Amino acid sequence: MKVTIIGGGGRVGSNAAFALQCGGIVSEIQLIDANQDLAEGEALDLMHGSSSIGGQVIYAGDYERARDTNIYVITAGLRRKPDESRLDLINRNVSLFRSILADIRRAGHLNCAKFFIVSNPVDILTHLTVQEMNVPQNQVLGLGTMLDTARFRSLIAAEMKLCPTEVKALILGEHGDSMIPVWSSATAAGLPLAGMAGMNPALQNKLFERAKGSGAEVIRRKGGAGWAVGVTIAEVVHALVLDKHQLLPVSSYQRGKVYGIRDISLSVPTIVGRNGVVDHMEIDLWPKEKQGLQSSARALKETLAQVK
Ligand SMILES: NC(=O)c1ccc[n+]([C@@H]2O[C@H](COP(=O)([O-])OP(=O)(O)OC[C@H]3O[C@@H](n4cnc5c(N)ncnc54)[C@H](O)[C@@H]3O)[C@@H](O)[C@H]2O)c1
Repeated sequence: MKVTIIGGGGRVGSNAAFALQCGGIVSEIQLIDANQDLAEGEALDLMHGSSSIGGQVIYAGDYERARDTNIYVITAGLRRKPDESRLDLINRNVSLFRSILADIRRAGHLNCAKFFIVSNPVDILTHLTVQEMNVPQNQVLGLGTMLDTARFRSLIAAEMKLCPTEVKALILGEHGDSMIPVWSSATAAGLPLAGMAGMNPALQNKLFERAKGSGAEVIRRKGGAGWAVGVTIAEVVHALVLDKHQLLPVSSYQRGKVYGIRDISLSVPTIVGRNGVVDHMEIDLWPKEKQGLQSSARALKETLAQVK
């Protein structure tokens, strides 16, 4: 299985490559970056470790060499300029993103290739990929609220002094301001979190706000998120490669099957396997969670309407 990371010289792309290298499941990792030197340097550094970790082929390449890629992971993005509005940044990133899709189309790609979007605004860019790549909708997915969910679970576990991998709690909706925490189905080792000693609405609110603000906190302290996002990218790639049918909060095109949401891409409980998005599942939500998810979809539609 060959994975090409576009933006692979950057922090998120190179950290994802390292997580995939440690995972040892994909066989070939290609890095493409507008900064060729950076891509070469990261690929070389990763390749130096390949004899210790896994026998993978790792190199910096180009779109021609990407034609037989099974999974494109797109992490290329621009950072906000001082005084720039959120919408201006979105439009600059959209235009950069469209040029990447055009480069992939120009070089050619496998009919069955999957397109996995990480760059922000991730839900909008996932939606544009569905509209512009002329591949079946199930072959396009975005990281969505995977990272928010991972942060949420890890913070809950740290607060409750529980094993992090046993905590299951989702964040759904937009990867952004309107994301919503799902406490109704949150568990630890199969037991409801809501009933555990010490858990109460004030603590729930504190944990969600900390998870939601985590991106900004990490940017302030070290410049940008990398390791946790890299690990969540690898989790999705492995679910695709190993046909895991794993239920994940990835972002994908909504056709009205769940929660009455259609014609927008965002995170709902999604089964991920070899074919990409295998299915969406409507799990019971508390009324306020369902309303929150639906208003998240409306907020994203408003943003999409303003994208040039
Ligand atoms: N979805 C999520 O949960 C999530 C989490 C963290 C970061 N992100 C997003 O990931 C993106 C990358 O973040 P980062 O911290 O790695 O930034 P970064 O600046 O470290 O890396 C971005 C890379 O993209 C490259 N690039 C720019 N234009 C390109 C083009 N046209 N073709 C190929 N490469 C190009 C740059 O040279 C750079 O190496 C951003 O959009 C960021 O918002 C998403």
